[in-house]
Amino acid sequence: NLPPVIAIDGPTASGKGTVASLVAKKLGFHYLDSGALYRLVALGSQKASIEPQNGPELGILAKKLVISFKNGQILLNSEDVTDAIRTESIGLRASAIAVHPEVRQALVGVQHGFRVAPGLVADGRDMASVIFPDAVLKIFLTATAEARAERRYKQLIAKGISAKLEHLLHDLQERDARDSSRGTAPLLVADGAEVLETSELSIDQAVKTVLDWYQSKV
Ligand code: C5P
Repeated sequence: NLPPVIAIDGPTASGKGTVASLVAKKLGFHYLDSGALYRLVALGSQKASIEPQNGPELGILAKKLVISFKNGQILLNSEDVTDAIRTESIGLRASAIAVHPEVRQALVGVQHGFRVAPGLVADGRDMASVIFPDAVLKIFLTATAEARAERRYKQLIAKGISAKLEHLLHDLQERDARDSSRGTAPLLVADGAEVLETSELSIDQAVKTVLDWYQSKV
């Protein structure tokens, strides 16, 4: 009897991370940000000068990385990389290395390891379709590309990082296209998943919708 999983998939900057972590907090569940794992491999491979095209080498690297999540901090080989993995360039590199089956395979066990009582909220691209196909609740959380670019823009400006809206929209569309068209674990609405369109919703409204759907399942 494995602990229950709520799987939340969706495109980049859809707000799934914010919604998923708040739902986890409300329920007292664990939280998995699977995108962070791909970002860690991207950063690690950059440090090791491995080309994003080199699937076999990237797979070996991904298996060797020592990853830990502690009190909101993300450590890679005991170095704090919490902020370093959040840049746009690491995001793009993550989507490039994520196409390789060797990389995806290397991260399966780590992801399953997060499924601990009393339960897990996991967000990513293939949580419902590949990693946790038996999730009690599957959600495809999305918003228009324009709404997502605008959210990302506001986040960056609030952090004091300069950004151009049209560049963000362009990067986001490039990443969406790559994530949706790849052969292994493409971004898609999984069988049995509920679609949650958040362009017009506040964070609180999105969180409440997920909690209501979950209550109706258990
Ligand atoms: O969600 P986030 O933007 O942090 O993810 C970075 C990249 O990692 C995505 O663009 C996607 O290519 C990849 N990813 C993935 N499968 C997941 C989570 C993320 O392929 N489950």
